[in-house]
Amino acid sequence: MKYTLRDAELLQTIFSSRRDVRGNRFVDAPIDDEVLRKILEAAISAPSVGFSQPWKFVIVQDHAKREEIYEEFVRENTKASKLFEGNLLYDTLKLEGIKESAINIAVLYKKPTKTVLGQTTQKKMGEYSVVCAIQNLWLMARAYNIGVGWVSILRAKKVKKILGIGNEYKLIGYLTLGHVNEFLDEPELLKLGWENKKTIDEVVEWV
Ligand SMILES: Cc1cc2nc3c(=O)[nH]c(=O)nc-3n(C[C@H](O)[C@H](O)[C@H](O)COP(=O)(O)O)c2cc1C
Repeated sequence: MKYTLRDAELLQTIFSSRRDVRGNRFVDAPIDDEVLRKILEAAISAPSVGFSQPWKFVIVQDHAKREEIYEEFVRENTKASKLFEGNLLYDTLKLEGIKESAINIAVLYKKPTKTVLGQTTQKKMGEYSVVCAIQNLWLMARAYNIGVGWVSILRAKKVKKILGIGNEYKLIGYLTLGHVNEFLDEPELLKLGWENKKTIDEVVEWV
């Protein structure tokens, strides 16, 4: 199968319009089961070292568990805020949508029980594979107009305990998914002047 320039352009449009969505933009509406399935299918189409597919997705609907995870976020974010002391902007940022989103997904790495092809020298390759799955999920969600937020101001150990996840797994990402009232046209942190967008020339080097 050969793609056309139009396909490439569409893909680029999806890349550029993907956003991290926080709680202030989620709306109270469920995600259709079929759509969620398609999004998860995209996730498991990701490349993985030695085709090990070391991912696992725990879908968190339970409100009591989400409340506990939110409390963990508040604890950690209070600590984080101190590291940005003097920066008035930090405390105004909404950095999660744990309770406002339709579902949360804990994305896990299953530690290998046998030697994995390709993971013999660089041991983190399995974890990187899970990140590839998250990116696929994020992009396919955008194609279905579902917003995704990545919440990282959480202690992995605490999240695993709340969700009853065993030691054979490592938490890679904690995601929030749902319908949104708006996708911003640019990253919010760019709009707020927190960071600038780097150009290709700044990040590419030829040797
Ligand atoms: C690994 C990772 C962790 C992130 N953690 C958070 C987070 O804890 N809270 C948050 O609001 N955004 C988080 N983000 C989203 C980034 O802030 C966002 O991707 C970046 O500002 C660019 O905006 P965009 O995704 O809308 O293009 C995370 C993104 C990545 C890739």
